[in-house]
Amino acid sequence: MDKFVIKGGNRLCGKVKISGAKNGSLALMPATILAQGTYNLFNTPNLKDVRTMSKLMTALGIYTELNDNNLFIDSSSINSFEAPYEHVKNMRASFYVIGPLLSRFGEAKVSLPGGCAWGPRPVDLHIKGLEKLGAEINIENGYVVAKAKGRKLTGAKINLEISSVGATGNILMAATLAKGTTLISNAATEPEITALAKMLLKMGAKINGIGTNILEIEGVSELHPTDEINIPDRIEAATFLIAAAITGGSIVINNCNPYNLTSVLGLLEDAGCKIDINSDSISLSAGDGINENTIIPVDITTAIYPGIPTDIQPQWISLMITAKGDSKISDPIYKDRFKHIPEMVRLGGNIELIEHTAYVKGGHKLTGASVMASDLRAGAALVIAGLVAEGTTEVLRIYHIDRGYESFENKLTCLGADIKRVKTDLV
Ligand code: EPZ
Repeated sequence: MDKFVIKGGNRLCGKVKISGAKNGSLALMPATILAQGTYNLFNTPNLKDVRTMSKLMTALGIYTELNDNNLFIDSSSINSFEAPYEHVKNMRASFYVIGPLLSRFGEAKVSLPGGCAWGPRPVDLHIKGLEKLGAEINIENGYVVAKAKGRKLTGAKINLEISSVGATGNILMAATLAKGTTLISNAATEPEITALAKMLLKMGAKINGIGTNILEIEGVSELHPTDEINIPDRIEAATFLIAAAITGGSIVINNCNPYNLTSVLGLLEDAGCKIDINSDSISLSAGDGINENTIIPVDITTAIYPGIPTDIQPQWISLMITAKGDSKISDPIYKDRFKHIPEMVRLGGNIELIEHTAYVKGGHKLTGASVMASDLRAGAALVIAGLVAEGTTEVLRIYHIDRGYESFENKLTCLGADIKRVKTDLV
């Protein structure tokens, strides 16, 4: 096991290059099931979750090789339609393979994903959508066993009660090879879904409404492989911006798309930061947050895109602990995504959780302690808090962070943070 050991007090200054989007790659990779052949997915981050998806795809008979952020995939010899529990239990996004498998081969058997640190992660919307496309679905021994009637899915009109990112991706991929036309309303419009739709277009799919919450897909008989460049990771970019803000630093984020995180840029300006953007970079400067308290408290409520992403909620709480006033943070997307609060209290944060809302009393000096990451964004938030905590902070269970942040400690070190990865027997 590894831990991060952080000595607080350094301002973050300098430039950082953002990696490819974790949630972008996890959507593009299953799409390669839809057409046999070879693909190059460029700007693929070397992350634990990408390696997990690669292992799952290898179990299906697909060849994958990641070299220098280029993921080469050969899906010519798929020989299994079963995604085993051993892979799916490690990563919920493994469930994305069910739509492509069902659509191309007429059958799929995928383990139900488990929950995660903050509670159940249902897939009922995925299942309902695939049933509407004509799949016969049974739950057998923890597996979703799906068969397409006549081995071919049929287009349908599907309304998602919740604008689910995963369900939108799964149903979108399944619809590309279905007979007839599919309409998905209340579709997710996250940039990662838009990027998936654009890759499917390059593969020969017929999709209208890309980027909107109504997608119209006219099924085709077959698709062909393509190369694609993965979009930059907007959540990683937001994480580094918040880290710079809490330290009163001044950084430039390169290789990002500022237009995919405008909601966060607005928040950071409201919190007193100066933000400038170019087509692929963002610069942020904050007052000297370490010696004098310059962060203005800002309440947030997370929402679907283009609202405030739930994936920056923990990091925002870290920033608000040091703000010069009180704030409240609500997360209606994941009402229980607050396992990080007790850890932040150990660092000296004054936070009360009432009815799925965190009430943060600002103006608190943080002091170093040993804390535990409960998921990747909570882990990142604890590192951010450790950057300004007096003394030394140890963040345990950083395997969570390794799931979604490529070279996290190296990037922070290049910006001036005092952070080391250390082996530990502590679990
Ligand atoms: C994606 O998860 C992301 N993961 C998550 O990022 C992100 O937090 C989430 O979208 C919300 O933006 C990937 O893209 C791999 P949802 P996903 O389906 O697709 C409910 C990270 O930190 N729901 O949009 O699983 C669900 O419970 C990760 O990188 C159902 O009720 O999220 C939640 O309340 C964490 N039934 C809401 O919808 C379903 O069938 C949004 O979930 C599906 C979802």
